[in-house]
Amino acid sequence: MHTPKDNQKRTLDRVLSKFGVGSRTEARSWIGAGRVTVNGKKVQTPDVWIDPENDRVELDGRPLTARQKQYLLLYKPKGYLTTYKDPEGRPTVYDLLTGVKDFVFPVGRLDQDTTGLLILTNDSAFGDHITSPESKVPKTYLVKASVLLSDEQLDRLRQGLALADGPTRPALVTRIRDGAKYSFFEITITEGRNRQVRRMVEALGAKVLKLVRTAIGGIEIGPLEIGKYRALAAEERLALGGMSKKPSHAGRPVVPPAVPRDRETRQAPRRNGKSARWASENRPRGHNGSARKP
Ligand code: URA
Repeated sequence: MHTPKDNQKRTLDRVLSKFGVGSRTEARSWIGAGRVTVNGKKVQTPDVWIDPENDRVELDGRPLTARQKQYLLLYKPKGYLTTYKDPEGRPTVYDLLTGVKDFVFPVGRLDQDTTGLLILTNDSAFGDHITSPESKVPKTYLVKASVLLSDEQLDRLRQGLALADGPTRPALVTRIRDGAKYSFFEITITEGRNRQVRRMVEALGAKVLKLVRTAIGGIEIGPLEIGKYRALAAEERLALGGMSKKPSHAGRPVVPPAVPRDRETRQAPRRNGKSARWASENRPRGHNGSARKP
């Protein structure tokens, strides 16, 4: 076992989750129940640091290894949480992943009321790359503000403004249109702090009434229906960067999920396409009428 200083550091619960056998909460309960061994020794502390490349992890005596990599793109509807389970029983994005057997985790969070693109994967290096501020992967949002915003206010977003957790980086901001009472604009940021866009708009003295993530890097919503997901194409994954050069199985056996998932009994999404329409109607257009890249 290894200390947090090692390069491959991961806590045991995280390793189990990244191997695709279950959520971190499930992993912690298996570890606590004494079902997990590392290099042949039972470990009941989920926070112990291990090296997933070199330490041998077993669940119920079966060796675990990284499962085939999954890269999904979901159009998250409003009202869905990005957590695995909600104690209050609210719908989560996992309710929408019918047919996905491996455990995938959301790459960054979207607020419950935010709609739009969400990547889910079991490739932690890829996920870390997309979310890390150092990678500067741009994320683009359409915003409906609660008031009419002046050019000076949009400039403050562009230049970066002070938030409680530090100044924001400069952002790309395009006014789309003003209604009688509300401004609509597009913003592209290269960070992904908690509720960042909402907090930036709040710093201007306004509120976000609608928020849609329309693009991650060069990947756009396109024809994806709200509540639906699709696999990311290999070239899309490569364009986002952060892809591991190693083969996904590393020649080792793959185990099935330790706990069968019961998604069928969960509520099906509403598919009225309202939010998708809102995004497409408000998306800035290029000269040829196609959706413009940020
Ligand atoms: N910024 C926010 O404020 N919320 C999100 O869900 C995503 C970005």
